[in-house]
Amino acid sequence: MKVIKTVQLMQKTAMKLKRKGRRIVLVPTMGYLHNGHLSLIKKARKTAGANGVVVVSIYVNPTQFGPNEDLSRYPRDLKRDLDLIRPLNVDIVFNPSDKEMYPGKEEGLYSTYIVEENLSKNMEGSSRPGHFRGVATVVGKLFNIVMPDAAVFGEKDYQQAAIIKRMVKDFNFPLKIVVSPTVRESDGLAMSSRNSYLNESERKQATALFRAIQYAKNAVSKKGTINANDLKNELKNLIEKEPSGRVDYIEFFDPETLQPVSKVRSGAHLALAVYVGKTRLIDNASL
Ligand code: PAJ
Repeated sequence: MKVIKTVQLMQKTAMKLKRKGRRIVLVPTMGYLHNGHLSLIKKARKTAGANGVVVVSIYVNPTQFGPNEDLSRYPRDLKRDLDLIRPLNVDIVFNPSDKEMYPGKEEGLYSTYIVEENLSKNMEGSSRPGHFRGVATVVGKLFNIVMPDAAVFGEKDYQQAAIIKRMVKDFNFPLKIVVSPTVRESDGLAMSSRNSYLNESERKQATALFRAIQYAKNAVSKKGTINANDLKNELKNLIEKEPSGRVDYIEFFDPETLQPVSKVRSGAHLALAVYVGKTRLIDNASL
């Protein structure tokens, strides 16, 4: 397993691999890896095939964090990440610095961004202004640096995956996007690097997101069609029964267009963002 730190060496390596006809599959991450990330890497290994090359990028991308968000305390541990990745037969870890990814940014000499203008308007987009501009930009850059034939993203970040698929189509990036299912803890909590922020009591309360999803699934299977606002209120009550639980948003929407629906029925998608104490968690599911 090779660790590459510079854009120049990564591009040179990618071009060499491509000349040899080897398939490159990328898994972009911000590190502090958990089983959700590892499942994406396993999917990438399968997608790449025996002769293919799996690249995992580890980079905490500053442009996708708002000024009052957790950039400075986002967990980082490269050694731990490399130990977790090593058994998975990964070929290359791309781990650049901020200077490599955004040269001249401090001096005002970095000024190009990718902005998706439709799917990124609601949910995470409205709660975290500028977030998807940062995500689309860094992912577009990673595609130009790693030159993958395919890239794997998690369904855990449903809106992110939808925006990346749209960006690839709109900007003619020559690769396939693979979306992989959400990996959960045994009590249903979706795995996330941010779960490490939770204390013991918050960790228990955090299962409210999964319980809300189960509640919504049950309601839809029992009643068929439900008024979205009514169901939102019921889920909000369920979540805010927890002393540290506070809903940021709950949305029911069309899984393709991400447009909100006023009537919830089977096939609609649910996404929610919840503060448990100071930690902001997201989850989603098809109903
Ligand atoms: P990060 O949060 O590290 O997630 C990296 C990838 O792992 C994303 O595609 C995410 O959807 C997926 N993932 C996270 N938790 C998961 C889980 N429990 N089950 C399955 N997949 C999961 O998402 C980002 O980083 C960044 O925005 C990035 C795309 C790397 C751009 O900076």
